[in-house]
Amino acid sequence: MAAKKTRPAAKRPSRTTSTAPAPRTAPAAPVVPAWHVAPDRTKAWKRLTSLAAKGTSMDLRKAFAADRSRGARFATEALGIHLDYSKNLVDGAIMDALFDLAAECGVANHRKAMFAGEAINLTENRAVLHIALRAPAGAVVKVDGRNIVPDVHEVLGRMERFANAVRSGTWRGHTGKRIRTVVNIGIGGSDLGPVMAYEALKDFSDRSISCRYVSNIDGEDFYEKTHDLDPAETLFVVSSKTFTTIETMTNAQTARAWSLRKLKDPAAVAKHFVAVSTNAAEVSKFGIDTANMFGFWDWVGGRYSMDSAIGLSTMVAIGPANFRELLAGFHDMDEHFRTAAPRRNLPFLLALIGLWNRDFLGCETVAVLPYCQYLHRLSAYLQQLEMESNGKRVQLDGTPCRWQTSPVIWGEPGTNGQHAFYQMIHQGTSPVPCDLIAFAQPLHAVGSKEGGEHHDILIANILAQGEALAFGKTPDEVRAEGTPEWLVPHRTFPGNRPTNTMLIERLSPRMLGRIIALYEHKVFVQGSIWRVNSFDQWGVELGKVLAKRIIPELSGAAPAKGSKSTSSKSTSPKSTSSKPAHDSSTNALIAKYRHWRDRD
Ligand code: F6P
Repeated sequence: MAAKKTRPAAKRPSRTTSTAPAPRTAPAAPVVPAWHVAPDRTKAWKRLTSLAAKGTSMDLRKAFAADRSRGARFATEALGIHLDYSKNLVDGAIMDALFDLAAECGVANHRKAMFAGEAINLTENRAVLHIALRAPAGAVVKVDGRNIVPDVHEVLGRMERFANAVRSGTWRGHTGKRIRTVVNIGIGGSDLGPVMAYEALKDFSDRSISCRYVSNIDGEDFYEKTHDLDPAETLFVVSSKTFTTIETMTNAQTARAWSLRKLKDPAAVAKHFVAVSTNAAEVSKFGIDTANMFGFWDWVGGRYSMDSAIGLSTMVAIGPANFRELLAGFHDMDEHFRTAAPRRNLPFLLALIGLWNRDFLGCETVAVLPYCQYLHRLSAYLQQLEMESNGKRVQLDGTPCRWQTSPVIWGEPGTNGQHAFYQMIHQGTSPVPCDLIAFAQPLHAVGSKEGGEHHDILIANILAQGEALAFGKTPDEVRAEGTPEWLVPHRTFPGNRPTNTMLIERLSPRMLGRIIALYEHKVFVQGSIWRVNSFDQWGVELGKVLAKRIIPELSGAAPAKGSKSTSSKSTSPKSTSSKPAHDSSTNALIAKYRHWRDRD
């Protein structure tokens, strides 16, 4: 795995003591490697474009009838995950062209560059090395010629000592009471992964300590998650890569005030607050001793960080041994992704099928539908992973994408979704490709002689949905049931709605790691072909800047000196709280808010 960063670091802007406007030295534009070929410049893309007509008119009933081995032919299995992609609108020629597309777009080179620690996050000049977070202790992954794996394991060791101390009661609160609740304060990647993993692995957790997650700036979130807690028994984990995110910092300040209202003594902070961040300076500015800080690195993207120290609450919940298993699962999938041939490579397959649906069949969204209640936060987690990574409109070189990129990701667990939105998936006007995910073995066999075994009923449902979506019900079949003619169109199911089915042996920490890494690498392959930077997120910045400007306009104070709007619509940097200077819509909304807020 060892390799060195090959691209020179971008120059930082130089400082000047002159009174003249500072000449800023812009970082040099990154060089996009020549093997990063734009997808529509490939031969495979042209083939796929002509095959698209075949895809849209494909009839899955006929395809299955014509090829009795189709179910086995378009399925593969690795690491206890059986992926059946036969119910997609693909055939051998389409799959061949998709694999050729990945080859022509240089996915293998890109993958090699990532594993080698090259600065593939071109706009931020950073390596992308979440794979190092789960590398075994003896592995070598180099950044700038330095092996970073020992750093990872040093932090893991500190996390383990801390988690064991909390779990065993050695770490106590300021008054000597045991910690009963861990409250993680974080948002985005500093929240979604830990929440998802906590919920997914609840059955592996120590139930005498519960975890809660505060993320929203909406004070109701903080209130609801803390109003019934005793500060003497509560530990806050302030999780923020940057330690400057307004939601997290505001919630952390509120948490400190909430704790000290009861605990009185500022020294209590040391026993009730720890931090997870890459920013030691901001952590100590906040008042948390850096001895109680667990670090990570700028080569870990926020949405790729649940297996870094950001997973501290997960580790406290499930214990260090289970957390190591989770990491081992991630690593299993990393190795599979790195070494398996594309045709048997789960991330490649998911990515290519998704790309076919998105770019050639025009599907706007993908529903992730786990038939497992423990995975009820999986689609929320994948929303950030996929949409923040690949929701981009320009290529690595800044030129517009001439193809579609990330679809909308959404979903809920089955069978609940069946009684809510599956109507649209079966009979709506927009096809929604679905990832159907289920485990063969339940963690708890629940049921009764009278009602039946829950798990068999659950699995029957997921299989039935895949079947119904693929094969539908023809008007003749509906008529044959004696349905009156006027009702026939309403009761007809068009079928040919694409699904992937992932049948997995059993949920465990290790399996969760494999599943999450599978999606991480799926995103990688798609981003690689779409030629976007899957590792930056400039699109979240503008709203943050504008909110900072509006805050003082709402609270009554004048805006901070020198604050400027970046909105092209705003007229004056001198706006005051009484006269906000935005567009007429925003101005009116601010006035309405202030009026209703201040009314008795
Ligand atoms: O606003 C988006 C974002 O930057 C995400 O990428 C990130 O996961 C989240 O905010 C939280 O950032 P931080 O961990 O720095 O508080």
